[in-house]
Formats: sequence, structure tokens, C-alpha cells
Amino acid sequence: MSELVKVVLKDDEIPRQWYNIQADLKKPVPPPVDKNGKPIGPDALAPVFPMNLIEQEVSTRRWIDIPEEILGILKLWRPSPLYRARRLEQALKTPAIILYKNEGVSPPGSHKPNTAVAQAYYNREFGIKRLTTETGAGQWGSALAFGCKLLGLECKVYMVRISFDQKPFRKIMMRTWGAECVASPSRETNAGRAILEKDPDTPGSLGIAISEAIEAAVTGKNTRYALGSVLNHVLMHQTIIGLEAKKQMEMLGLYPDVVIGCAGGGSNFAGLSFPFVCDKMAGRNVRVIAVEPAACPTLTRAPYVYDSGDVAMMTPLLAMYSLGHTFVPPPIHAGGLRYHGMAPLVSHVLREGLIEAQALHQMECYGAAMKFAHTEGFIPAPETSHAIAMAIREAEKAREEGKKRVILFNWSGHGLMDLTGYQAYLDGKLSDFALPEEMLTRSLASMEGLPRPPAA
Ligand SMILES: Cc1ncc(COP(=O)(O)O)c(C=O)c1O
Repeated sequence: MSELVKVVLKDDEIPRQWYNIQADLKKPVPPPVDKNGKPIGPDALAPVFPMNLIEQEVSTRRWIDIPEEILGILKLWRPSPLYRARRLEQALKTPAIILYKNEGVSPPGSHKPNTAVAQAYYNREFGIKRLTTETGAGQWGSALAFGCKLLGLECKVYMVRISFDQKPFRKIMMRTWGAECVASPSRETNAGRAILEKDPDTPGSLGIAISEAIEAAVTGKNTRYALGSVLNHVLMHQTIIGLEAKKQMEMLGLYPDVVIGCAGGGSNFAGLSFPFVCDKMAGRNVRVIAVEPAACPTLTRAPYVYDSGDVAMMTPLLAMYSLGHTFVPPPIHAGGLRYHGMAPLVSHVLREGLIEAQALHQMECYGAAMKFAHTEGFIPAPETSHAIAMAIREAEKAREEGKKRVILFNWSGHGLMDLTGYQAYLDGKLSDFALPEEMLTRSLASMEGLPRPPAA
């Protein structure tokens, strides 16, 4: 593999099935429950999601076929290239091989359309005409707008206030793909109005926007809700990333020593890593690291609890690491990583010792993004910079130890719509934000009285 820079699979080498990790877990993930701790059945989710996706949510089949129409759309940018970051390796003077999967090549610019297209397809098959959703950084909202447009659905997006103000271009992308986008909290929903009454200047949060989008879905005609992360079926749709990466690495005759992804709700991390976690469960030696912001330290500082996915507690309670559903994260620029909870499947594999988690500060991540842009050229999303920073740490460790290590990370999206964050960094206006213990204690209190998941 002397001078090889990237591995590109042909259209017909695209994986034709998703990998469902639920088939291989030794212990199942505790089921979603209501406030009394009673497991909720698929019917309780029916006003929110179409039944074909609910079936995927609870399925324990290892492989699930990807319908042809979905594959046809995914092929607009998939299989995505696997790059070797040679120039970054040289700049770091590391013996490590650094590989990354470039999910920034999709039309909206991130991994999110892998599930947006699938969710729009299954909703349309079920007879749904309109989808509602939340968005943080705007990546998910624009991905769903894109998916809905290509599959003939209407789309309404509740965008977290701070990103709505900071990221005007994502709104224009959503409108270009025919979606309507409003700032959250809005005056359009009971949930939004209640928050604004208490705190008119709130920067908003994903938890608030989710409450609004679910309320709009359950009260709207022929309308359902689509979530961009966290849920089992969303993570499964993303496994196409890891399945492609495995094929590409086989072509190089390589297998990763370390697999890295940034984690907001957990979907791009799981998408790349779960096919490798599958190998790990079968005895293979591979380290898997989820990276989160120190300002929103769900996997590294939060307890494993039953908590709601949103502020108004409209979702069932999910077994996960959670900072508390009332947690309003500090306004760091990685908007997609500002979520109080974590996917139950990612939480579960951390608890089972199959993966590790690390929290990094914003300045280190922007520094890593700059190093990446200066060597590899591409400008990453602020979320993605967390994975890059961890890959750099691992590559530096390999240099110190004199070890030739293979590092694979997910380049979850480009940052071309996130340039206000770069501007603030370049102007010296950014700083780190360590979450104060009292702020954490306050938001953890919102979970008092909720049922507890079974002990490990
Ligand atoms: C580029 C990018 N990476 C990562 C994330 C985090 O989401 P998840 O953890 O579901 O992959 C987001 C979310 O908006 C994103 O836009």
C-alpha cells in the first residue's frame, strides 16, 4: 500500500444489509419503560413512529436487507471513500497508520442521510406524508430535508435556538430541499411555550426541540416523528459505514487496532464501530473509543439510568447514561454533541466493557481540526474534530511507544457550514468549558423518582 491515499469501492460493492448488534449481545439492552417502570410495547410508540421502523427497533435479527430504492439513493455518494491520512501521519511523525471514513461526501455533508433516507422511505411505505424532527447543528435537519425531498414527503424541523442563530446556511439548505425550519423553543407548541415562559432567552437544547417535534407529530395529520440518532434502528442504518470500512480495510490487508468516533447521540460512532464490536465479542482484539465534549460528558460523568429523551418527557424512558433530561448544555460549537443522553446500545456496550469513552475540551478539538485542515485539506465539522483529536492522541502515543498501530476513525462530516465556530477560534474568542459539579448535580436531580435499570 505504498502511496495509496484512498480506497474507493464500486457502486455494486455497497453493503446490501445492515448489521443489527442486538442479535449478538450477551445480555439484551433493558427495554424502554413508562414512568412506573413497566416495559412499553410497540403499540405505545405507534403514534410517533411507523410500525415498520418500530419492528426494526425491537428486532434481534442479525442482518436486515436494505431495500433497493434506499440503495439507489445512497449510491449518490456511497460507498464513501476510506482515506489514509498520510500527510497528517507525516506531520505527527508517527509510525501509526491513520485511516478515516469520509462521510462528508454526502449531499448534506455528513453521515446523517444514511438514516434520513431510510426513515423517509419506511414512513412513505407506511403511508405517512409528513415528518417532523429536531436538529442541533443543522446537519440532521438538512439530511432529513434532503431524504424527504427525494422520497416525496413534507418535512418540518425544530432547530435549537443557538444553532438557528449561529448557522444561517443550514436553514437555507433545509429550505432548498423544501423543508420548513423554525427556532426551538418556538411559540408553536405547548412544550415550546412553557419553556419560553420560564426562560425567554434560553439557547434551547436538543431535548427541548425533540419535545416540540414529537408534539407536532402526534397532533398532526398523517405525520410522524424522525429522530437523527439514539434509537436502535437509527444506529443500525449507520452500520453501512463500518461494513464498507471493513471491506476497504480487507482490500488493504489491514485491521484496526483502534476504532474512534465522536459521540453525540451515538449514531456515527456506532455506525463505524459496531461491525468491529461484533468481532470483539467473537474474541478479536480491537479497542473502540467514543469521544464526547468535556462540556457535555454523558459517557464519562453521567450515571446509567432510565431517563427521557426529551425535556417534556414525551418519549418513553430509555436505559442510558444521561446528564438529566433538563440539562441545557453550554453553548460549545459542536452542536451535534450537545445531547443529555446517549444511545441505549452505546450505553450498554460501554457498560459491558466492549468500548471505552473519553471526554475532550473544545480547544484541543479545534486545534486538531486545524492540524487536519493544514495537512489533509478537508475542514471537519466541530463534532468530527473530537474524533480527529483522539486519533491524534493515539498516533502520538504510538510514536512515544514506537509502535506501528492502525487507527481508524469516522470523519462524520465537513465543517463548511460551521465556519462561525472556526471564525471564533481564529479570532481567539473560544475557550474551554469544564462542566461545574453543581450544574451537573442540578440536572441529575430531574431524574429523581424515575425507575432504575437493573444492576450490571
Ligand atoms: C457531523 C456530525 N458528527 C457527529 C454528530 C453527532 O451525532 P451522532 O452521535 O448521532 O453521530 C453530528 C450531529 O449532529 C454531526 O452533525
